[in-house]
Amino acid sequence: SNAEKLELVAQSIRSFPDFPSKGILFWDICPILKDPRTLTAVTDLFEEHVRKNFPQVELIVGLDARGFLFGPLLSQRLGIGFALVRKKGKLPGPTVGVAYDLEYGKAEAEIQADAVAPGQKVLIIDDLLATGGTLFAACELMKEQKAEVLGCLVVIELKELKGAERLKPNSVYSLVQH
Ligand code: PRP
Ligand code: MG
Repeated sequence: SNAEKLELVAQSIRSFPDFPSKGILFWDICPILKDPRTLTAVTDLFEEHVRKNFPQVELIVGLDARGFLFGPLLSQRLGIGFALVRKKGKLPGPTVGVAYDLEYGKAEAEIQADAVAPGQKVLIIDDLLATGGTLFAACELMKEQKAEVLGCLVVIELKELKGAERLKPNSVYSLVQH
């Protein structure tokens, strides 16, 4: 059942204090990938949510680096493509970029100029929603590319940091909340 799958996922997430710097509690999704049943549960849950709520989706957009672990599994299930939003300087050819603030530092995200078509309906996926800075930047990139963001998908949402507020009016679907 979905409740069992959610429980499996929730039990497979662990936290490490003071990583990567003092005062940051790091949420680690590696145990999800270590167990194929749990990784399948994550993909099942995302797939069911998308089929029910966003049947019109045309492209999954994943965020560097941990969004890449879940995005292609989902896009394959849905029979649609996957596009990579990467950290600056990693993608060849013409790119468009956007700068953003992280919980711990600054960064810049880029996408290849031909990755998303104008008007294309996309869902953005990442492992974790903290302050929302990263997903917000990806939404900005999509806006610049004239894509239509249907919503965001994450495995973990850190409620206290109010990332979902920052992303409004875009919706966020999370499997586990802390
Ligand atoms: C982490 C996490 C999310 C982002 C969430 O990525 O994987 O992408 O931070 O934080 P935010 O909501 O406050 O923006 P990180 O930049 O550490 O890099 P990684 O995914 O490449 O490990
Ligand atoms: Mg990340």
